[in-house]
Amino acid sequence: MTASRLGQKEFSRRRRQLLRMIGRGGAAVLPAAPVRLRNRDVEYPYRQDSDFYYLTGFAEPDAVAVLIPGRGHAEYILFCRERDPARETWDGPRAGQEGAVAQFGADDAFPIDDIDDILPGLLESCERVYHTMGIHPEFDSRVIGWVNTLRNRGGGTQVPQEFVSLDHLLHDMRLFKSRSEQAAMRRSAKIGVAAHLRAMRSVRPGMMEYEIEAEFLHEFRRHGAEPSYQPIVGGGGNACVLHYIANDARLEDGDLLLIDAGCELDYYACDITRTMPVNGRFSEAQRAIYDIVLEAHQAAIAQVQPGNHWNDPHDAAVRVVTRGLKRLGLLEGTLAALIRDEACKRFFMHKTGHWLGMDVHDVGDYRVEEHARQLEPGMVMTIEPGIYIPDGLRGVPKRWQGIGVRIEDDVVVTRDGHEVLTDGVPVDADEIEAVMAAGLAAGRSAGKAA
Ligand code: GLY
Ligand code: MN
Ligand code: MN
Repeated sequence: MTASRLGQKEFSRRRRQLLRMIGRGGAAVLPAAPVRLRNRDVEYPYRQDSDFYYLTGFAEPDAVAVLIPGRGHAEYILFCRERDPARETWDGPRAGQEGAVAQFGADDAFPIDDIDDILPGLLESCERVYHTMGIHPEFDSRVIGWVNTLRNRGGGTQVPQEFVSLDHLLHDMRLFKSRSEQAAMRRSAKIGVAAHLRAMRSVRPGMMEYEIEAEFLHEFRRHGAEPSYQPIVGGGGNACVLHYIANDARLEDGDLLLIDAGCELDYYACDITRTMPVNGRFSEAQRAIYDIVLEAHQAAIAQVQPGNHWNDPHDAAVRVVTRGLKRLGLLEGTLAALIRDEACKRFFMHKTGHWLGMDVHDVGDYRVEEHARQLEPGMVMTIEPGIYIPDGLRGVPKRWQGIGVRIEDDVVVTRDGHEVLTDGVPVDADEIEAVMAAGLAAGRSAGKAA
């Protein structure tokens, strides 16, 4: 297993920061993600737990990281699998304890099979155990078991008195992306952008949605990335199913196609949505809806500024969408009343974005003491307004039905505003038509040459 492209310094800096925050008397315990079975003996592709990876850069299963501030010779202890040439023939190389120290910066490392004997002793001198309960229940009961082992020792054994969730500290760290994390996110976004352009050039009426999905998988994998979530490739009314992942319908001439697809590279996700006409030309009705979403998207991005609040982009998007739908006659009433009553929720039922990072819906609090969180440099969020008008929606003229539009970009809060990581894929309707026309022309000349 190779070390991450982010470099060991980055991981060691994160551990130092967490050690500082935990302080003397604390001990953090984090498990690696378990291996999960897909069916019978076939495993899902292994993906390390984001918190664990964030602190260790260690991608193997069957590992536990322990951080104990101020512990003399070893503050960072990694339990991991032992080297095993026979198993490694089947499953590939393991770092082993030597590798954990030499390549991954552990101060000390032990075989994972010895953890029950060693870990209670490590916790003995601690007052507080930092561990996030409820994510890996089996592991939770082992942590409680280790503390009970100490209790049962009796005598003068000191037993930790407090369990503290690690979420709060760790997720606040993860919310702020360092320079090297931002660089990693730029690399991930670049592949996502290339994949969207590739797909946009290949769309033709009569294709199946999964053929377009295949364009994404090809572009992701050829750059060593993989999907950061199940791609959504929804033609016509499927665009109105927010988590549509079947991707098995035919793309019909005259329909729109909504694609929400992003990749993960070096554990950092991008998350991009574009909507385009299957035949390369927006109809008048499609364009009217599209341009409202685009205006909302731009108004929301303009709100991504340090000092603004987390909900400001959403409020800006809601205002534009509500005004637009009122103009088209899809909402009736005064603008103020419609906004107050959240009338546009019928057509725009999700938030305008979320934090983005190692997880596509990344960690970090959205509110602090009842107030929407202030945006600060280093935070990364998506901006993704949409309008969805499914077939058969009561009281809505037929011409609007079957139209689903979302536009989604990834935006970093910078010191003096923002940086859009994914603006390499056009959002302007004319530009999208131009990319699609170029794709069609290239397809035709390739056809002639063949
Ligand atoms: N792709 C999931 C989302 O946009 O939030
Ligand atoms: Mn998103
Ligand atoms: Mn998305």
